[in-house]
Amino acid sequence: MSDPSDVQARITTFWSGVAAGYEAHAGNVAEYGSTEYDSWVDALAPVLPDPPADVLDVAAGTGYLALAAAALGHRVAAVDLSPAMLDELAASATARGLAVDARVGDAVAPDFAPASFDAVTSRHLLWTLREPARAMANWRRLLRPGGRLVAVDGFWFTDWEDGEVPALFAEHYTAGTRDQLPLMHLDTPEPILGMLAAAGFIELAAEPRPDLNLGGGVPYLITGFVPRPGEHHGHRRRGDLMSGPEVDLEDILVTIGHNFGDIEVPLTEWIRRGPGPRKHLPLLAARSRSTGERLPLEVIPLVYRNTDESRRLIAEGKLDNPWPDS
Ligand SMILES: C[S@@+](CC[C@H](N)C(=O)[O-])C[C@H]1O[C@@H](n2cnc3c(N)ncnc32)[C@H](O)[C@@H]1O
Repeated sequence: MSDPSDVQARITTFWSGVAAGYEAHAGNVAEYGSTEYDSWVDALAPVLPDPPADVLDVAAGTGYLALAAAALGHRVAAVDLSPAMLDELAASATARGLAVDARVGDAVAPDFAPASFDAVTSRHLLWTLREPARAMANWRRLLRPGGRLVAVDGFWFTDWEDGEVPALFAEHYTAGTRDQLPLMHLDTPEPILGMLAAAGFIELAAEPRPDLNLGGGVPYLITGFVPRPGEHHGHRRRGDLMSGPEVDLEDILVTIGHNFGDIEVPLTEWIRRGPGPRKHLPLLAARSRSTGERLPLEVIPLVYRNTDESRRLIAEGKLDNPWPDS
């Protein structure tokens, strides 16, 4: 297994190498001032808080989101590990007369005080993010109650074929690097939503946005909120993949199929304790504690479902194991 710092060094070296040409490369950005660019700003404005708010853009690169947020009137900080990418960001900020507090820093553990921001944003980061569960927990800590996460990402590498990617890319995104990037080869946002739920985000949504396709595939607009005190840990599912009821995890009871007879427990207890030593205990049913209504098992974040699919994704490192000690 590759050392995470070697993995990150390879990733950062790659991005530093392509920084100067990043914005000229088709599919990376919509040109500032174009109709496509305006569509992006129009898509971002309603998912960001009302301006002026404190926004942190992680892995900001040349500042596509950071500059759009600054142009919308937000106070924006940005981190990226590639100084060359940040040089491009600084040049664009100067050219556009915008202020962004851009610093070299790790998106996994941005060095800011807890509760400093109203929004943490990222674009085209999740696929190349090592330690995503740790990163999401850190982002949550940086957000104030009611703060939000806004991530734009797509599934660019579902069908990875050696030889079909540019040589410079393959040289840095080696098999050892890709092994450390649990979200790189996804074909659905579900594992991302499961991780965000595990990190304590609520009202999660992942919306496909064909109108924002820059030529590389349809990106998803992923949003989640930090609960305010007393707010329930709901998991809202919306969009094509997300159709289904709006649910509150604390209201759900689950039936576990046990050799000694089925038992019903609160979902929160199942999330806390997991299947224990009988690792394959299945979840048979779910219902609402308050209404008694039967609920589809899909209301439970995938990471906690303990199905063949969730165990496979955990084994492949695409989801963090919520019960590593059981
Ligand atoms: C595909 S580019 C996206 C840049 C920008 N967010 C955008 O929307 O155009 C990926 C960026 O992530 C940065 N990056 C990758 N891993 C990072 C990490 N752990 N911390 C900070 N930056 C990271 C790279 O340096 C690069 O600038």
